[in-house]
Amino acid sequence: MRIVLLGGPGSGKGTQAKKLVDRLGIPQISTGDIFRAALKEGTPMGLKAKTYMDKGELVPDDVVIGVVEERLAKPDLNKGFMLDGFPRTLPQAQALDKILQAQGKPIDHAVLVDVPEEELVTRLSGRRTCKNSDCGMMYHVKFNPPKKEGICDTCGKDLYQRDDDSEATVRERLTVYNKQTAPLIDYYDKKSILRRVKGVGPIDQIFASIEKVLT
Ligand code: AP5
Ligand code: MG
Ligand code: ZN
Repeated sequence: MRIVLLGGPGSGKGTQAKKLVDRLGIPQISTGDIFRAALKEGTPMGLKAKTYMDKGELVPDDVVIGVVEERLAKPDLNKGFMLDGFPRTLPQAQALDKILQAQGKPIDHAVLVDVPEEELVTRLSGRRTCKNSDCGMMYHVKFNPPKKEGICDTCGKDLYQRDDDSEATVRERLTVYNKQTAPLIDYYDKKSILRRVKGVGPIDQIFASIEKVLT
């Protein structure tokens, strides 16, 4: 199954993707995670991406599309994949369709995790993320705290607060989302593969709604 996860910053794409990995046995491809891992390694691509991410702006399409194209060529995707945070612009969506068309493997479902804007700000200001990029589990100090403060339940490494989770940057990310990414809802709706899920409430309940729309 080939899935695109759509939704604003902090809507829970990453949280739900981790659960889908366990359930469906298909990999999560998060462009945000790829950039953060590249930055940690100090590669030129990672350093370039950081200058955009810190401002809450989008990394240029040609860079992102190149990264995804490379990832989609890897051999671990025969059961499918889940794209988290890509595509985020119309040109990215069109490029993705072109790549997949060439392989005869189109997207099956575009799942929109729908969350009101004010809730997103609260979620991101309390988010904590695992430092271990192979794990990358995320928590919330109030809504989804780890068992031991500051430590990842899954792998035992320290948690940190992302640089772009300050309130000013979050506001900018929301503006960018509304302007550049929200039009993709219509794009996938017109292809009749948009699946809307209410993204507010307990994490497990949202997961159950996602599973339902995928069947
Ligand atoms: P990216 O890393 O993709 O960030 P994002 O889209 O802003 O989304 P987030 O990761 O912030 O949120 P999420 O939806 O994954 O929510 P999460 O599950 O963590 O991108 C970062 C940057 O990279 C971009 O700004 C851009 O610069 C660049 N970039 C990436 N992809 C790009 C692309 N394609 N093109 C151009 N640039 C690109 O949950 C958030 C919090 O809420 C957590 O604390 C969680 O515990 C909590 N939570 C989750 N579910 C619930 C719930 N049901 N109730 C209460 N709390 C909840
Ligand atoms: Mg995420
Ligand atoms: Zn971890």
